[in-house]
Amino acid sequence: MRLAILSDIHYMSAPPAKPFARRGEYGDTFLLRAVHRFNRFIKPDAVLVAGDLLHDPNDPAAEGLLEELKKTLNILTVPYLVIPGNHDPAHELFYKVFADHKEPLDVGKFRILPFADPETPINNACRLPEDFDRMRQARENWAGELIALQHVPVGPADNHPCEYNFDNADAVLEAMKKYDFKLCISGHEHAGLPTREWNGITLVTAPGLCESPFSYLILDIDEAGAVTVTRENLAMEPALRLEDHHVHTTFAYCNENLALHKTRELGKLFGLSRIVYTEHSSHLLFTKDECVQKLPFYIGTSAANPSSNRTPDYFTEQQEIEKSFEMTGSELDYDQYGRPVVHPADRAKLQFCNGAIHAMDSLCPGGDLSKMNEEFMALNEAILRDGVQALAHPFRIFSFNSSKVKYPAPAELFEPLADLLKKYDTAAEINFHCNQPDEEFFALCLQKGVKISLGSDTHNLYEVGEFYPHVKFLDKIAPGWRSDPQEIMLQA
Ligand SMILES: [Fe+2]
Ligand SMILES: [Fe+2]
Repeated sequence: MRLAILSDIHYMSAPPAKPFARRGEYGDTFLLRAVHRFNRFIKPDAVLVAGDLLHDPNDPAAEGLLEELKKTLNILTVPYLVIPGNHDPAHELFYKVFADHKEPLDVGKFRILPFADPETPINNACRLPEDFDRMRQARENWAGELIALQHVPVGPADNHPCEYNFDNADAVLEAMKKYDFKLCISGHEHAGLPTREWNGITLVTAPGLCESPFSYLILDIDEAGAVTVTRENLAMEPALRLEDHHVHTTFAYCNENLALHKTRELGKLFGLSRIVYTEHSSHLLFTKDECVQKLPFYIGTSAANPSSNRTPDYFTEQQEIEKSFEMTGSELDYDQYGRPVVHPADRAKLQFCNGAIHAMDSLCPGGDLSKMNEEFMALNEAILRDGVQALAHPFRIFSFNSSKVKYPAPAELFEPLADLLKKYDTAAEINFHCNQPDEEFFALCLQKGVKISLGSDTHNLYEVGEFYPHVKFLDKIAPGWRSDPQEIMLQA
C-alpha cells in the first residue's frame, strides 16, 4: 500500500506584496505537478491532503480557489481525501466544495479517518468529544488498519519536537492506542518533522508544498505494517545544475497557460541553472490550420505566407528574457526534403536549436516498416548535418501518444542513430512528453560519448524543469552521473 501525502498548499489569489517563503501564488501549479507525477510515475493507492489548501481563510475568492484545487485533484487516477487546516475558510464553505470528504476513506485493508479539529491559540488544535467518538466508531466492524489524518501534528505533551500540538494531545494518543491506529498523519509544520513511533503508532508530519524545495511524502506500508517514509521535492537539486533545453512559449499553438515571467520564476524556484526557449519554427511561420494540415512538412518554408509570420514578434517578446538565465532558441521543424522550416536570417539569431521530426510521409497504419526506417534515418541525417545542438525526442515519431499510428521504436536503428549523433557531435534529448525514451538507445549514446540534453517540453507551467523521470532514467542507465553531471550533459 502506497500513500502520497501533500500538505499546506497555501494557495493565494495573488502574490504577496513582500517576498515570502510561502509561494502560494503558484499553489495550483505545484499541485498540478505533483498530481501528474503521482499519476504517471509514483502511482500511489491514495493521496491525502493534510490541510491549509488556502493561505487566507477570508479571501473573497476562497470558494473559487478551492474549486480550482479540486479540479486539479480530480485529475488523480486514485481516490483522495482532503481535510481543512487553520488557514482554510470556515467549515461551511470548505465542505461546500469538498462535501464528500467528511467520511473515512477505505483503501484495501486501510481505513483513513479525516479530522477537522478546531483551532486553539496559538495555531494549535483540540479534539472534540464527538471526534473521539468517531475514532471509536471507525474501529467498529473494521478489522483492518486505521489511519488518522489531521492538520496539526500530534505528539506526547512532554516530548514533542514541534511548537504546535493538540491541547489534549495525550488523550488523542491514548485513544489512538486504544482503538489500535497504525498511523497518524499531519501537516501544518512546513519544515515537516522526523517520523517517530509512539506505542506502535507511526507519527508522520508532511512538509508544506508551498515552501522551497516544495516537498511531499510517499508512505509505503508493507504487509507486516512497517512504514517507510520517503520525502521528495518538486524542485530539482540545484547542485546538479540542470538546464531545460526545451521550453515552449505563448507562441506555441499547443501552449496551455505559459507566460514568460512565470516560466522564468518557476525555472528558478525549481532549481534549474538555465532555460532555453525553443518555439516550434513551423508555428512561427504558419497558421494553426496549416500546421494541422502538415503544410510545413510537405511544402516547407516557401509555402509560408509572409502575413502569417510571427517570428519577429517572438524575437521581440524574447527581448525581456534574463540573458544570464535564459536563451532564445527554436525547435526546428524540417520539410520532407530535410530542409529546415525557418528563414536563414532568423536562424542566424537563434542561440540554440532542437532538431525535431514531427511528421513522416511513410508513417501510416499498416505502413511499410523498411520505408519508414529509411525515411526516418534520411530525415535524421539531414537534421544533424544542418547543425542543431540537440536531437529532440529521438524515435518519438513512431509512438507519439496523441497519434493514431503507433509502432515500437525500431531497435535496429538505435546503433546507427547513435553513430550519426556522434559523427555530427549532436546531443540526444531525453524527453518524456507524450513519450517514453528508450533506455537501450540512450545507454548506447552514452557509451559512444554522445552528450545528453534534458528537455521538459514545457507547454504548461507545471512542466518547467520537471526532470523527475529524467533523473531516475539517468540513475538507471548512468549510475554515478550525479558526481559530475556536466561530463555527460550538454550545456547550452
Ligand atoms: Fe500552513
Ligand atoms: Fe496550519
